[in-house]
Amino acid sequence: MTEWLKNAVFYEIYPQSFADSNADGIGDIQGIIEHLDYIRELGCNAVWLNPCFASPFLDAGYDVSDYKRVAPRYGTNADLKRLFDEVHKRGMHIMLDLVPGHTSWEHPWFKESLKPEKNPYSGRYVWTNNTWKDLTGVGHVSGSLRGLSDRNGSVGTNFYSHQPCLNYGFYEIDEPDWQQPVDSEDALATREAIKDVMRFWLQMGCDGFRVDMAGSLVKNDPDQEGTIALWQDFRKFLDEEFPEAAMISEWGQPDRSLRSGFHMDFMLHFGPSHYTALYHEDDPYFSRKGTGDAKAFIDYYKMCYEPTNGKGMICVPSGNHDMVRLSRYLDDEEIKIVFAFLLSLPGAPFIYYGDELGMRYLDSVVSVEGGYPRTGSRSPMQWDDSLNAGFSQAKAEELYIPIDPDADRPTVKKALEDKASVYHTVKELIRIRQCTPVLQSEAKIEFVFCEDHAYPLAYRRTDGKNSVLVLINPSQKASGFSYEGSLGAVLYQNGGGLKLEEGKLTVSPATAVFIKEETVR
Ligand code: NOJ
Repeated sequence: MTEWLKNAVFYEIYPQSFADSNADGIGDIQGIIEHLDYIRELGCNAVWLNPCFASPFLDAGYDVSDYKRVAPRYGTNADLKRLFDEVHKRGMHIMLDLVPGHTSWEHPWFKESLKPEKNPYSGRYVWTNNTWKDLTGVGHVSGSLRGLSDRNGSVGTNFYSHQPCLNYGFYEIDEPDWQQPVDSEDALATREAIKDVMRFWLQMGCDGFRVDMAGSLVKNDPDQEGTIALWQDFRKFLDEEFPEAAMISEWGQPDRSLRSGFHMDFMLHFGPSHYTALYHEDDPYFSRKGTGDAKAFIDYYKMCYEPTNGKGMICVPSGNHDMVRLSRYLDDEEIKIVFAFLLSLPGAPFIYYGDELGMRYLDSVVSVEGGYPRTGSRSPMQWDDSLNAGFSQAKAEELYIPIDPDADRPTVKKALEDKASVYHTVKELIRIRQCTPVLQSEAKIEFVFCEDHAYPLAYRRTDGKNSVLVLINPSQKASGFSYEGSLGAVLYQNGGGLKLEEGKLTVSPATAVFIKEETVR
């Protein structure tokens, strides 16, 4: 295990919207450097930077046109190197976003592959040998592109139509005329090309990658055994050349991703995770209405956690650039309880920029760069009460995405001044986590009380010697359960308190508590 991940707390930066240092209306690397102390001061010691590479930006940079060049709007490669250095100077780490499943259709590899004449890139993407062939329905292919050039073939896409899939081969081959095996020359060449990209940034000083759609690489791969073997090979390469490199997958199936060699996998809003029931639905568990359900999520979490415990980590993020923000469904007091939950789970927590302020999801913004409803979670960071909330000196109409127009919008400045802000709760929770080893990434979690549509949620973090009981009661009603241990010092308390009487532990309404356990019977 990469040592620093054990007590890492990540801050996700969407570079477009964090801080604009040159008044062009869009965030940039220098802006990030200028605000690293803010992130450090909050207590985060690691950064995940969304894609910052050359791109036509039809999917906010997840459509890369040059893997080895920083997009000019963010700065230069030298600026990114400076960011790595500034991060390291502060004792922090930084992960870049690797998008290995597809490129932009403007990538030079794709332009070469469009040519009817055979060339070294003809097999770099998932091409058929027949223009009329539709790839919709082929495992891990989202659709097909046809008629873009005189090459007689159609090409698979991975997400949007402008994102052709790179070719790592097919696990099950039912049309051998065009489906290549995973060990074909072309599939192996793609693999080496991506290793080369990883090598490029790791040599420059980045600490690892968050990997986009990590489970999507090998096609027609029903149990993802082909993709798992592929990632094992990537890990072998890293172990040989960059053993410290950290790898975190956007996969959502930890039983597969951790076996593939990833250190950590995200539990997300897709697949069977039940994640949205916690804080992204009409009746979220974290609402004080107290009618939501956490059990389906916890059952899935346990199913993933139990077989993988010790072999890797699972992370539940506060949100990200693809999800609606917490504040769409929950108010500040409810969000504080969400953070007590997130910051007491195993795995390295991820805080999406602005979630620490309770920044709002903007319902009515027009889609920008392929964001569609996701655009509402990507608005500029709100720093203070100066022009454009301190994000940029550009004219308001030149901003990449408009600022939250609400006069009452949260800002860093207000949050720092108000001791009751979400920011101060998050900071306090990170501080407590950082000085309590059993609350960090690796100590075990045992669920103590988690029933169908019931409150509170109770779990224990333990290393066998020390244990902390975490009690989470978002509901407006006091709620309790049978408990037979004896309790010690309170490490954290937000809201009311606890009562342990005749074997029943009752948690006050809207309360989160971390408390040491003296004995567990
Ligand atoms: C997942 C990324 O998080 C998302 O923003 C992107 O649109 C797709 N993958 C495609 O790369």
